[in-house]
Parts: sequence; C-alpha cells; structure tokens
Amino acid sequence: MINDIIQIAKEAGEIIRGSYRQNFNVEFKTNHTNLVTEVDKKSEQLIIDFINKKYPGHGILAEESGGNYNNKEYIWVIDPLDGTTNFAHGLPIFSVSIGVVKNNEIIAGVVYDVMRDALYSAEKGNGSFCNERKLKVSENNILAHSLLVTGFPYDIAQNPDNAIELFAAFLKSSRAVRRLGSAAIDICYVADGIFDGFWEVNLNPWDICAGKLILEEAGGLFTDFHGNRKDIFNKQTLATNGKIHKQMIDIIERTNRQL
Ligand code: IPD
Ligand code: CA
Ligand code: CA
Repeated sequence: MINDIIQIAKEAGEIIRGSYRQNFNVEFKTNHTNLVTEVDKKSEQLIIDFINKKYPGHGILAEESGGNYNNKEYIWVIDPLDGTTNFAHGLPIFSVSIGVVKNNEIIAGVVYDVMRDALYSAEKGNGSFCNERKLKVSENNILAHSLLVTGFPYDIAQNPDNAIELFAAFLKSSRAVRRLGSAAIDICYVADGIFDGFWEVNLNPWDICAGKLILEEAGGLFTDFHGNRKDIFNKQTLATNGKIHKQMIDIIERTNRQL
C-alpha cells in the first residue's frame, strides 16, 4: 500500500507543480484569508478516483469534499494541497499529505514536499524516510537553543486559544520561530531534525495524519498541549523531538495561566 500512496501523492504533486505560478481560479472558503484553488480540487479528485478504483471498500476523509468513512476499516485522510495560501501567492512551500488509518491507528503516511521533490514517508513500525534517507529527530534538549515552527488558523483575527500570546512567548524563549505555511511540512521537518518543535492551536485531521506517523517513526513526540497522546481529531498539536516537549508544555501552561 505504501507504494501506492507514494505514487498517487507524486502524481498529485505533478499536477500542482505544473500549475505553480500559472493562472488558476481562486475562491474564498470561510473568509478572505481561507482560500481554495481549482488545483486543490483537481489534486483531491485525482487521489479520490485512485482510491475508489484500487481500494473500493476504503473510507475517505478529504479536506475539500468531506468524509465518507463511518464503519470503514481503512480511512484515507487527505490534504490535497497543504499550504494553499503559499501556492496561491507563488511561494514554493506546499505539500500533498495522505495518511491511512486502520481501526483507529495510523498505519502509513506520505507527505510530498512538492517544489523540493522531497517525499516523506512512513509505515507503522518501519521508520520514516525522506526519499531513501532515514529520518531522525534532533538531539537538542534546550528550548533556548531550539528552532521552532508554528502556523496560525484562518480565524487568527479572533485570536483563538491565545495563539498570538503563545507565539510571543515562544519567540522569547527559543532561538527563533519560523512560519512556513504548510503544517504537514512543518511536522516532517521536525521529524527530519531541522526544527526541534512545532505547535499549532487548531489543526484538522488532514493537516496532521501523515505527519504524526512520520514524526513518531523518527523518534519524535506528538501530543496535545497538556502532553497527552492525541488522536487526529484533537485540534491542538505539539510535535517535537521529545527532548524539549516538557519545556514547551511549561511555556504553554504558563502563558495560558497569565491571560
Ligand atoms: C493550512 C496550513 C497552514 C496552517 C493552517 C492550515 P491549508 O492548511 O497547514 O500552515 O497554519 O492552520 O489550515 O489550508 O493550506 O491546507
Ligand atoms: Ca492543510
Ligand atoms: Ca489544504
């Protein structure tokens, strides 16, 4: 199955790459910050057609067309283009993310970092890889020496869950904080030892499903903001190398107490 996921993620990535900086239709979803392009939809359709043809009994949870997965043993969790705002503006940081859940456990995940042609993949129990290279999280155990990454939800103007105060707190307590614009890539870069930690206040299953397995198979830790192991429907995400996890939880708890 992993080879099929890799193949279809790459094919979707080729469609996206072919449309990069070309003319495509852009629509608003919930507000002027939340975009969807015709390329998101084309990528998703390609992936869904493939699953329906090759794995007809499997359930699907996909960002643009919703879910049909009740009572299914297997569920494919799909973000056909993670980083739509970047893509729409021509910033070359976006991905295709596909995770497969079997009986509530993620068994395979693929994130295709389209413009770098970097294919992140993992199968449960078999480690995770970027192309052929095995992944391992960083060794750093000091938050003050950490490079962190985060993202903001589309309703950031309402500052849900103190997202802005948390950002300020981590800016002051780490070496630096980046905001790339694709949560799936952010998490893979933690798995790859580039970033030491990632947090975001409100993510969806399709943003994190594949990344969670890729990170855990690289030795990282993926929890909610209290350090509890979480399933993909829990909105809070703290994804780290494991060694700075507790220090990040302390900052989150202190920040939320002070507000
Ligand atoms: C978004 C990206 C972004 C994150 C947002 C997500 P989309 O996904 O992952 O980095 O900050 O919360 O919604 O809309 O580009 O698929
Ligand atoms: Ca997304
Ligand atoms: Ca998306």
